[in-house]
Amino acid sequence: MRIQLFITVVCVVVTLEVVLRSAPANGPALCNTCPPGFELTDANLCKLRSLYQQYESGQGDDPGVGGLKTALPAVRDGFTPQQIDLGRYLFFDPVLSGDGTVSCATCHQPAKGFSDGLKTSVGLHNTKLKRAAPSLWNVAFYKKFFWDARATSLEEQMTGPLYSADEMGTTREQLLKTLNGIAPYRDMFEEAFPDRASGAIRLDEIYTAITAFESSLISLNSRYDQYAHGYPEALNKAEIEGLNIFRSFVARCAECHTPPLFTNQQVAVIGLAPPEGSAFDPGAQETFHDASLRGAFKVPSLRNIDRTAPYTHAGRFDSLREMMTFYSAGRGHEAPRNEKLHIHWHIWEPKLTDYEMDRLVDFVKTLTDESFMPRAPETVPSGLAIDKNTDQKTQASLSPTTH
Ligand code: HEC
Ligand code: HEC
Repeated sequence: MRIQLFITVVCVVVTLEVVLRSAPANGPALCNTCPPGFELTDANLCKLRSLYQQYESGQGDDPGVGGLKTALPAVRDGFTPQQIDLGRYLFFDPVLSGDGTVSCATCHQPAKGFSDGLKTSVGLHNTKLKRAAPSLWNVAFYKKFFWDARATSLEEQMTGPLYSADEMGTTREQLLKTLNGIAPYRDMFEEAFPDRASGAIRLDEIYTAITAFESSLISLNSRYDQYAHGYPEALNKAEIEGLNIFRSFVARCAECHTPPLFTNQQVAVIGLAPPEGSAFDPGAQETFHDASLRGAFKVPSLRNIDRTAPYTHAGRFDSLREMMTFYSAGRGHEAPRNEKLHIHWHIWEPKLTDYEMDRLVDFVKTLTDESFMPRAPETVPSGLAIDKNTDQKTQASLSPTTH
């Protein structure tokens, strides 16, 4: 059973690409409708519409940690359809990197939950980074970014990968020069930012457009959500058992992975050992200059978790089942002896049985929803090839689960 929860108008991206090919000097016409899940206002702004908004009054019949009808935090919306669509082209265009080989989508691949399937990401010139690429679904709701919570906006966050020599390796000057040198982009920015005084593309416009696209990646229509909105048949018996373990005082998962985003957006020390041969990652200790946060990381959302293996900030576990074994094996069992870690008080000794761990896996797999998956452009205005991992064909195989 699949319930249509949103009124959606999907932009016909295919026609746009035809326009691009027949008129290469001009940018492709940008989409003038909002992505699915968003409603266009009279001021030409896309506003999110979600069934969770009905719980905003806090009157849900099941409030509190782990409650089904919990309200969403504030969302970053209100971008124009044109800005969102421009951001989509920029996100997939490797011209944003220093040597034209790496795009945001290289490490945030749609088919892999906007992660990359690697233990830790690989940047420019095959440089191995020290952390894993997080999913980008629902980043519109986050207040802090990066595993160590060191950025406070999407705009600030992206200056990390763009200007890091190990990731995309460009500079502000190069980025502006490159994009301003591509006629289709000049037209597209003109269309997306019609009120500007100058004709040249500005950095803040680039950041706004990419933020607009990222903020459109909404995943709130999983089978779990249908269950939460009052359709009990959306989950089977094993999955409901898993949900109850997840919310239980024994497992305490929902204390940190709090619905509906399945993160409370805080940092916590769960006491993982570093991967073989790697130094211990201090995580949020460095962001907040606080020794009690040594080894603390942002609580990751569990939405679309079935797509984003391997798990944790350093890709420690290949499967969800291994992750459950970690939680069950007891507080601090992995913590390096030479580290004084302040493991979070919700990490305890749940001593889950194999049966319970299997049900937890069943449950978190119900958090998959890719029905608002954007399409990768077939071509980008720079004319550079799009990474083969990020193309349409990969995504075509990804029809959302139907029940
Ligand atoms: C070379 C791989 C790579 C590229 C290219 C890359 N990222 Fe990332 N991204 C990562 C990794 C790794 C992290 C986590 C780093 C950390 O926490 O220290 C990350 C983190 C993020 C986050 C934070 C998510 C969260 O939940 O905190 C966002 C948002 C993001 N990237 C967006 C982008 C955008 C937009 C671009 C293009 C401008 C981009 N990334 C390019 C690998 C990459
Ligand atoms: C004290 C808060 C806390 C509790 C309780 C907790 N987690 Fe986590 N969880 C985290 C943090 C923080 C991370 C990231 C740790 C890291 O990467 O170093 C994480 C990571 C994960 C991941 C990997 C996510 C990814 O994207 O890589 C899964 C899956 C997970 N937790 C499931 C659970 C389950 C199931 C439970 C209950 C048995 C649970 N968690 C209890 C804080 C918590």
